[in-house]
Amino acid sequence: MFTIKKEDDPRVNLALMTETAAAMLEGEEDSIAALANISALIKAYLEDINWAGFYILKGKDLVLGPFQGLPACSRIGEGRGVCGRAVQEGRPVITGNVREFPGHIACDSASASEIVIPLFKQGTVYGVLDLDSPRLNRFSALEEEYLTQTGRLIGAFLERVEGRG
Ligand code: SME
Repeated sequence: MFTIKKEDDPRVNLALMTETAAAMLEGEEDSIAALANISALIKAYLEDINWAGFYILKGKDLVLGPFQGLPACSRIGEGRGVCGRAVQEGRPVITGNVREFPGHIACDSASASEIVIPLFKQGTVYGVLDLDSPRLNRFSALEEEYLTQTGRLIGAFLERVEGRG
């Protein structure tokens, strides 16, 4: 069992979330189980999040993986939406107002802002971590930093459990 111990200081809270993610990944061998728990962890730690989860790159499409939130589009084509952009650019993408992002894919009409972190396994994009918020300009550079760190931990975990291929 993992304790969700939230703190008021955003950096301390994010550090706690990241440490718990590391412990979760260390104790697991199955990628679906681990990613499911990480999505629940993020949703529990961060305020004002209506969707948190993963899309996995399969061929050219991003296919829905473990998540917390309302049902979402199960497949995102190459370069589509904020998720496709993050894959193409190989770096995190934050959009403060999804309605101003050309090509944004609306899965939950409540979503107002979004952050997408690409995940790498051995230098190749494996998928993305996607977070939506009903609040405009919800995501900070500090959150990007810690979520990117969590993404790196996930990449290392995937190399361990799924091999380096
Ligand atoms: N909004 C995303 C699609 C996925 S949902 O937010 C869960 C996008 O534009 O890529």
